[in-house]
Amino acid sequence: MRQGENKQNIRSQSEIDAQNAYAAQIRAENDRYEAETGVRRRAFVLTFGCQQNEADSETLAGMSRQMGYALTATPEDADLILVNTCAIREHAEKKALSIIGQYKHLKAKNPALLIGVCGCMVTQEHRRDEIKHRYPYVDFTFGTSSLFRLPELICTKLARGKRQFCPEEQKYLVAEGLPVHRESTYRAWVSVMYGCNNFCSYCIVPYVRGRERSRAPEAIVAEVRELIEKGYKDITLLGQNVNSYGKVLPETVDFADLLCEIDKIEGDYLLRFMTSHPKDASTKLIDVMASSRHIAHQFHLPMQSGSDEVLRVMNRRYDTKKYYGIVEYMREKMPDVTITSDIIVGFPGETEEDFEGTLEMLRRVKFDMLYSFIYSPRKGTPAAEMENQVPPEVKSARFDRLLALQNEIATEKNQPLVGKTLRVLCDGVSKNNEALYSGRTEGNKIAFFEGTPDDTGRYVTVQIDRADAFALYGKKHEKI
Ligand code: SAH
Ligand code: SF4
Ligand code: F3S
Repeated sequence: MRQGENKQNIRSQSEIDAQNAYAAQIRAENDRYEAETGVRRRAFVLTFGCQQNEADSETLAGMSRQMGYALTATPEDADLILVNTCAIREHAEKKALSIIGQYKHLKAKNPALLIGVCGCMVTQEHRRDEIKHRYPYVDFTFGTSSLFRLPELICTKLARGKRQFCPEEQKYLVAEGLPVHRESTYRAWVSVMYGCNNFCSYCIVPYVRGRERSRAPEAIVAEVRELIEKGYKDITLLGQNVNSYGKVLPETVDFADLLCEIDKIEGDYLLRFMTSHPKDASTKLIDVMASSRHIAHQFHLPMQSGSDEVLRVMNRRYDTKKYYGIVEYMREKMPDVTITSDIIVGFPGETEEDFEGTLEMLRRVKFDMLYSFIYSPRKGTPAAEMENQVPPEVKSARFDRLLALQNEIATEKNQPLVGKTLRVLCDGVSKNNEALYSGRTEGNKIAFFEGTPDDTGRYVTVQIDRADAFALYGKKHEKI
């Protein structure tokens, strides 16, 4: 890997310094408030959407702390509320808007409360206008390209009293060196690239996340190394299409090279990544995974549809043959690999035959797990304008058939794990079943077992004695 800073796509240090200066001003004001009242001001960050948004929210939390706010888990006692929104489906937008609606009464109770809305939804002009006109108690909005401007927005709002609607940046740049407050002490997200150039015809992401840009390999390797030194055990590299990593960098480095470099770091940890686009998933990447020391044998490879015609209109640029070829190669190199996927049901023009094609692919590939979605038209995308939209009742009937088939397949896939002893990274008491602890296997499957508080964040070995479509259940071994 060639050394050298990738200067073109990085936000300048002076811009970051300017934000640090704004943050210091707010911090001084928050310190003064605490000295006067004995109360530290608090910030609440609410996140919708994908892991990229989760990662961005950890930066929002980090910046909030830098500005002298303590973090709170409840909006009722917050002085600053940040809602990080998603635009992938209508449901995600509706949920965010409904929650923002509920904050009206908090603002009525506490007029000094600051409410900011950010992320993918408000990167769209029509949603920004909607917030402006229909949610007058929202103090500021900022899109995905302006995340780093949070301190400036708060400062300007406080100084001038006027609501702030931050315009999108003209250039998509990577902002390095922002403070991050991670939620977990053992699992971490690390963004390796931002944006997407693929323009799948149904998808809003390229419009709200901008063009692809990659972080410099040195910055990523240094961040991962630091995490491992701190004891992080499960690290997921993030990007909308990680296989495009490095394409826009001056260095000759691709995603497989980056993985090789990270894999050299010593330690007891697993490395994961998402998401891979089948059109770019290379045999080189799979070879690197198979021979690596730390890369989990787990692959998320969104298929979207099992019909070549639908894939063509989706602008996915692969067909089912190519997709199945990748799966076969992966299973040849890593027989134990867990494969998961995304499927969209009811894309415009999807016929019964097309949908049967998707079911057929499910039977052939046998995914360990599936994230399935009913197609949701997104304003501004080509598919939303297509005339042959599938009626809602057809979409939901197909969705139910897809889920029923996948449940059978996942149960069948999990059965061979019964009797096996697996290493599980424990996440603590299960949110769904408080009598049990839960964790994730190397294949990222959920395992339930009877644990103790000090298992949290540690590897435990679990002998699996039962499995269903969604999880594994077993007994923890006393000592590894
Ligand atoms: N970059 C990733 C996916 C990001 S979005 C990739 O290319 O695989 C996550 C998933 O949401 C997509 O894989 C797709 O299955 C789903 N999705 C995206 N747009 C959608 C829409 N308009 N309606 C329904 N599902 C959608
Ligand atoms: Fe959306 Fe396609 Fe980009 Fe994924 S690759 S984010 S589905 S446009
Ligand atoms: Fe949603 Fe934006 Fe992620 S639209 S899925 S939060 S990239």
